[in-house]
Amino acid sequence: MAARQDLPAHVGIIMDGNGRWAKKRGLPRKMGHRAGADAFKKIARYANRIGLKYLTAYVFSTENWKRPKDEVDSILSLLRSYLDEMENYRRENIRVRFIGDRSVFDAGIQAKMARAEEQSKDATGLTLILAINYGGRAEIAHAARQIARAVQAGRLSPEAVTEETFGDYLYTAGIPDVDLLIRPSGEYRLSNFLLWQTAYAEYVFMSGVLWPDFKPETLEEALREYRSRSRRFGGLSASDS
Ligand code: FPP
Repeated sequence: MAARQDLPAHVGIIMDGNGRWAKKRGLPRKMGHRAGADAFKKIARYANRIGLKYLTAYVFSTENWKRPKDEVDSILSLLRSYLDEMENYRRENIRVRFIGDRSVFDAGIQAKMARAEEQSKDATGLTLILAINYGGRAEIAHAARQIARAVQAGRLSPEAVTEETFGDYLYTAGIPDVDLLIRPSGEYRLSNFLLWQTAYAEYVFMSGVLWPDFKPETLEEALREYRSRSRRFGGLSASDS
């Protein structure tokens, strides 16, 4: 399939509604996460096929540790098996990156993450970014600490701390800002996801679908909505001037 010209550069997705999907079917929540992980893999492959350059998904937030241990364990177990499947991505030309504080995970998970990043680093198709133990505020505080250290060490002057240099200290350094942020399931919140990077994003909230039911056609619907928006970045559109 030829890469499309009509796509946003970077799409962010908050994969919400797994628990409700399971509840509706009388299943345990972990089955909802399993179905959610399957939906995610299909969307990632589809995004790569149509030529999307960056897709970031909220897999596990810094707040998700508050969930029952059983549920946290089931998400981490899905993550482990998914990390093992990732070697296929090299063949599909998908590059994998992780954002978030990975230092809290056991050595096995950290090694799998490093391996997936290393194996796929030369891929030129989709860059698939998984936010894991990620929080937007934690990311900004982490960047501020790094900048403070650089200033203290005399490697950076306070005047050089611009929006651009600040961005270089975020986990997403080198990745363009989010153009389109999608959240299914009828919740209208950002939930601490990519706070800095979504400053000018278009938000598409899709109340009629829970994440496990999210399909390539649903992504296309969000992309159509995105194309219908007029993005002005604080300026005027051509027809206003
Ligand atoms: C939100 O649904 C979803 C999460 C907190 C976790 C997202 C995780 C996955 C999609 C599975 C793991 C994915 C991979 C790629 C390993 P919710 O549980 O808050 O749903 P609810 O609001 O209906 O309760």
